[in-house]
Amino acid sequence: MIELRASDLGDTHAIAGAIAGLVRPRDLIVLIGEMGAGKTAFATGFATALGVHGDDHVSSPTFTLMHSYTSGRIPLHHADLYRLATLAEVADLGIRELLDMGAVGLVEWGDVASDVLGDGMSVTLVADDDDDEDARMIFVAVDGHAWDSRWELLKNVLRNWTLR
Ligand SMILES: Nc1ncnc2c1ncn2[C@@H]1O[C@H](COP(=O)(O)OP(=O)(O)OP(=O)(O)O)[C@@H](O)[C@H]1O
Ligand SMILES: [Mg+2]
Repeated sequence: MIELRASDLGDTHAIAGAIAGLVRPRDLIVLIGEMGAGKTAFATGFATALGVHGDDHVSSPTFTLMHSYTSGRIPLHHADLYRLATLAEVADLGIRELLDMGAVGLVEWGDVASDVLGDGMSVTLVADDDDDEDARMIFVAVDGHAWDSRWELLKNVLRNWTLR
């Protein structure tokens, strides 16, 4: 696991951008954290770094289940499972199938559906400093082997925000 500290929104965007620089087709990133933790903010920084632009803009997917963006380096699907009640509904979204077609997936509240979604990276955002409402702890972890060959590179691009 990589433990990071973002001191403000710009740091969260930059961290997301650094990860986006290393993603490949079929990568899944599950975004974990309470309401307002910054999951959608992370997604915005991620999409911008992938090159998503113009009216192909990332907004909160909270009221629509999934947004897809095709103007970046890799097609991006951004889903929010908050309103889904059952794992069958998650399966019906077909996220893994979309990734298999060569896309990257960001899934907010996806930790409850890991059995359906399968292996991937998790990014957990935590606001844990009562004196600084813009600070976030960000924990990056990986299941499976998809990141094995990129792990050292990932640690390197995230070194500026790494806790020691
Ligand atoms: N370091 C930071 N990282 C991310 N967001 C931050 C940070 N500092 C302040 N913020 C603010 O916190 C809010 C995060 O909201 P966001 O919609 O990204 O949360 P969320 O985790 O997606 O919530 P929800 O579960 O409701 O979808 C934004 O208003 C953002 O500007
Ligand atoms: Mg959100």
